[in-house]
Amino acid sequence: MTGIGVLRLPRDVRLGFGQRHAVPALATGFGSRIAVVADPFLAATPEFREIVAAMEAAGARTLVVTDVPAELPVPAVVAAADTVRDFAPDVIVGYGGGSALDAAKVVALLTSHPGPVDAYYGENAVPGPVVPLIAVPTTAGTGSEVTPVAVVSDPGREMKVGISSPWLIPTIAIVDPELTLAAPRGVTTHSGIDAFVHAVESFTAAPLDIGHDAVIPVFVGRNDLTDAVSLQAAGLIFRALPRVLDEPGDREARADMAHGSLLAGMAFGAAGTHLSHAIQYPVGALTHTPHGLGTGALLPYVLQACRDVVPDRLAQLGQALGLDAGGDLADRAQSAVDAVADLCARIGLPVSLTELGVTPAYRDRIVELALQSRRLIGISPVPADVQVVGAIVDAAIAGDRAALRSVPTHP
Ligand SMILES: NC(=O)c1ccc[n+]([C@@H]2O[C@H](COP(=O)([O-])OP(=O)(O)OC[C@H]3O[C@@H](n4cnc5c(N)ncnc54)[C@H](O)[C@@H]3O)[C@@H](O)[C@H]2O)c1
Ligand SMILES: [Fe+2]
Repeated sequence: MTGIGVLRLPRDVRLGFGQRHAVPALATGFGSRIAVVADPFLAATPEFREIVAAMEAAGARTLVVTDVPAELPVPAVVAAADTVRDFAPDVIVGYGGGSALDAAKVVALLTSHPGPVDAYYGENAVPGPVVPLIAVPTTAGTGSEVTPVAVVSDPGREMKVGISSPWLIPTIAIVDPELTLAAPRGVTTHSGIDAFVHAVESFTAAPLDIGHDAVIPVFVGRNDLTDAVSLQAAGLIFRALPRVLDEPGDREARADMAHGSLLAGMAFGAAGTHLSHAIQYPVGALTHTPHGLGTGALLPYVLQACRDVVPDRLAQLGQALGLDAGGDLADRAQSAVDAVADLCARIGLPVSLTELGVTPAYRDRIVELALQSRRLIGISPVPADVQVVGAIVDAAIAGDRAALRSVPTHP
């Protein structure tokens, strides 16, 4: 127990097979001008066309924007926002994976407030409400349908950059596992393990002292309202992810993944994530590898470094993963770390950063850039300085957790 609780959510969250059928009526409830920001591949699917046709049949005018590339380069997002602003929408629907949902968030922001977009980078820089947003994810998933963050690529910056504000939380989230059934193996693996990392990092993040001001940090660390949500998410994804990879048409496992990634988004949307994310950002920028591939590959190393600092949290995590609850605390914590490493191996993630293309020449730059993600570093369970982050990166490059069993930590 931390004695504090923070949870921020859309005003309407729905989960279940077929829930997408509610989207047209929910959207027209805001007015008759509906902009849709969609992934280009998914915009061609019958499920998507049916939603747009139903909106039009209800008398709405629709504008479908599909030309924002997955990495969300700022110029493309700004161009999409210009088109959408001219259309003057009553509501924006985001439809696709995390990329399309993040694009919809930034389009909503720039439709409602003047640019430049870099005025909103970082935390709490969005000045007020944005156009209502309905988020419909097709991956399980980033959790972006419930989170206060969108990530863009700014050509002037080495790493992707986040815009984090409670004003970016979608008004409505509609999570229909049916939409994830055709997701390819790579997308299922990377978005699925990233959701697991969200669950585990939100459960282990250090709690911040948030005081009593109206404006508090967007990400406040673990707290009494997110803990149970994180643990349930971790358990669901731990069991379901190998199953959806073995049998992509397993509807029950797909539903559990959608459920788990949604819960993980709810938890990390308030608690935040920490070192796997801080280290992945430079790794992703240097190697051009998917976000979840990096966060997943790094998680066992990060947890190993945290084992002696938060053994009780890791033991609780182990219990949520279905591990034996008996024995010494340190052993239970280690079993949880080993179980996470086993999951990563079982779903085919690389064991070392070397397999992602990280050479020792990148090492110092990765450590330096990781430490610049101050909001992530600030809620790391293990106080993260150049020595600790360096030890994690060294171990992850070597593909060997042994050296992290005695990471130098500060009192
Ligand atoms: N805002 C947040 O809270 C948050 C959290 C984590 C990650 N992210 C961001 O999300 C992005 C990754 O999102 P993602 O992993 O959901 O993937 P994505 O949206 O980048 O999509 C990846 C690919 O999968 C395809 N795809 C998506 N759903 C599909 C489906 N159901 N069937 C077939 N193909 C499908 C897309 O067409 C695309 O080619 C990253 O840019 C990351 O930075 C955001
Ligand atoms: Fe992530």
